[in-house]
Amino acid sequence: MLYERKTPTSKRIFERAYKVIPGGICHNIRYFPPYPFYVEKAEGPYIWDVDGNRYIDFWMGHYAHILGHNHPLISHAVSNFIKEKGFHFGIPNEWEVELAELIQELVPCAEAVRFCSSGTEATMYAVRLARAYTGRNVVVKITGGWHGASTDLSFGVSYPFDLKETLGVPDCMEAYTRFVKFNDIESLEKVIDEAGSDLACVIVEPVLGVGGFIPAEKDFLLKLKVSVEKLDAILIFDEIITGFRLSLGGYQKVCGVIPHIATLGKVLGGGFPIGAVVGKREILDFGSWERKKPLRVLMGGGTFSCNPVSMVAGVKILNFLKENESYVYERLNSLGDYLRKRISEEKFSFQVKTTGISSLFMIHFVKEGNLNIKCAEDIVNNTFWELRDTRFRVYMAERGFYLVHAGGAISLSHEESHIDAFVEALKDYTLKV
Ligand SMILES: Cc1ncc(COP(=O)(O)O)c(C=O)c1O
Repeated sequence: MLYERKTPTSKRIFERAYKVIPGGICHNIRYFPPYPFYVEKAEGPYIWDVDGNRYIDFWMGHYAHILGHNHPLISHAVSNFIKEKGFHFGIPNEWEVELAELIQELVPCAEAVRFCSSGTEATMYAVRLARAYTGRNVVVKITGGWHGASTDLSFGVSYPFDLKETLGVPDCMEAYTRFVKFNDIESLEKVIDEAGSDLACVIVEPVLGVGGFIPAEKDFLLKLKVSVEKLDAILIFDEIITGFRLSLGGYQKVCGVIPHIATLGKVLGGGFPIGAVVGKREILDFGSWERKKPLRVLMGGGTFSCNPVSMVAGVKILNFLKENESYVYERLNSLGDYLRKRISEEKFSFQVKTTGISSLFMIHFVKEGNLNIKCAEDIVNNTFWELRDTRFRVYMAERGFYLVHAGGAISLSHEESHIDAFVEALKDYTLKV
């Protein structure tokens, strides 16, 4: 196999890893058979593996890089900061205030801001806040929605959706988390009605992320907000992928539907670990030290929350995006549209459909017919989705491209030529099921 001939050092490292790390990997989606390659360095749109192979990277560190890898704006700021000031205090620093002020200015729902160290923590705290504020239990999420692996939200994430997502979660938790189809307002309203006076919140990615990069229909979000508010429950937008990537104010700014709480991460940290819960002050106030037990929500983010490196990188990236707003988002939209157009105009030996919006894209190998993809179920029922992270991922790696779930996030360091090269490689792909 060409991949194995190109990556002998990665193979040896994986063999070592397998002996000490279960499955050889610490994040399962980073694995693909026969073994993943190991990265040596990254710059702009490229990564190099330990065997010296160069790849055009569309994964961009789980979609966290909007400028491309190792951008001097961030790397200089962070290395100067570390040289001159240190890197971890565990004591308040002014950069956390500056970053919170920027978020408050840019994100429509962000009356108040609270930082933690990852998106997983942010969604876990968001749900906890919603339950505390409403005094209720039921959380409704979307099938295929990935919000990190917290106990409350580890349901209905991957196919088959109704099989237990994870061991280790007590059955009684299942009673409190329900999941429904994306963009299907009727089912959603039904589930919301059933939850009735025990509905704490609905959490939704306004553009379904790992579930297929599918934008919500505006009517779906509008009706969702009305149904949630009718029951005095909380609407949470998980904007961990979409925040600062689709616009300065996230997808809520694009679609005009403002949630009560939003979660942020990825781009916000400029490539360093971060999570944030933002939203209505009266809800976020439940986490303040000013409230005493038992009227307080335990939230924080732990040892590394508000670490100054992430805060400085976050301030840098948000200021850059703010100062270059029209260029940034026009360029990202244009690169994404260019990719979708190139694929739709090309002839392939298989049927292909591309979903996505702006810089986010995902490719689907359609089984038959003209498929309109509106939810994760459409993908698992009508496409050869399992190939995306097996044969297709290896095929693309052999040709010098790195994609996860046959998709990714284009950065400002990418050019049309990278997309042209990718489409050429896609043309040579043969679909063997
Ligand atoms: C929409 C969404 N929410 C939450 C998370 C979890 O964030 P993190 O990986 O920073 O814990 C992710 C991560 O991919 C995500 O895509």
